[in-house]
Amino acid sequence: MNWHFAAHESQLSGKSAIELRHLESLLGEPMILVSGDDVRCISNVCTHRGMLLVDGSCSRSTLQCPYHGRTFGLDGTMKSMPEFDLTEDFPSAQDNLRTFPSISWKGLIFTGLEPSGLKACLKEMEARIGWMPIEKFEYDHSRNRYYEIRANWALYVDNYLEGFHIPFVHNDLNNALDYDDYRTEIFDGGVLQIGIASDGETIFEIPEESPDFGLKVAAYYYWIYPGLMLNFYPWGLSVNLVIPLSVDRTRIEYYGFVWDKKFLGKGAGGDLDKVEEEDQFVVESTQRGVSSGTYERGRYSPSKEIGVHHFHQMLSS
Ligand code: FES
Ligand SMILES: [Fe+2]
Repeated sequence: MNWHFAAHESQLSGKSAIELRHLESLLGEPMILVSGDDVRCISNVCTHRGMLLVDGSCSRSTLQCPYHGRTFGLDGTMKSMPEFDLTEDFPSAQDNLRTFPSISWKGLIFTGLEPSGLKACLKEMEARIGWMPIEKFEYDHSRNRYYEIRANWALYVDNYLEGFHIPFVHNDLNNALDYDDYRTEIFDGGVLQIGIASDGETIFEIPEESPDFGLKVAAYYYWIYPGLMLNFYPWGLSVNLVIPLSVDRTRIEYYGFVWDKKFLGKGAGGDLDKVEEEDQFVVESTQRGVSSGTYERGRYSPSKEIGVHHFHQMLSS
């Protein structure tokens, strides 16, 4: 079982609970992220008759079920319930909301049902981009995007995992990046791609302690198995979630967190809508292509498709 992205802490700003609908789509489990004495992921399902507690978000200090009024603390403990005075052995531990495991790394919160792994990914990110103040990035809901595409989720991931297609598919992005210097690294549980900027393009100010000090980095593209993409640009972070809906339908969600406004609209992360549209065009066409009776499989480019190969090995292991 995998860890999944739940939210960035800034999404909780001014709220005591937010619904994590994407996790319901991914895991079949209605969950909320709550901020009380601590931040935790708990069930959004009332322990009485199963009503959902939070619709969207809430900012109260308790969670009250809209069906018959059962009330829970923000830690998930049942506090009160009308008309249950005569009920024996009530309440018991089963009347509390279930808490799911969670990990918080620099403001990014991950959860899952019975998740394992992720440590290697976080270690890799800590060493590489631990210098960025990710916990201070601010949620900007105007950057949210929701798409439904007609393709299998793995084709969307394949496309993400190589820069090989950039000169063919993305005109503007290709101008912002130095194709020959594009880098791909694989690690346990994921892939990192580093976009090196063309001359004069927007880049990170990388501190000396970073292994990339001196490089003109325009973007760090992290993919974590199976469907999480963390795209770091000088302006901040774009989180992309890949949510399978059926064998040939996939939902893509974008969430944006701003670090430095002055870089918005600039460089490799400047026009994500255009890049996304260009990618979706090839991914949907590829879905039709691979459905052909004559297509079986293609070989991998050793210089440009190590990320795709790594993903396919993970899929088949
Ligand atoms: S379902 Fe929640 S109080 Fe009845
Ligand atoms: Fe692309």
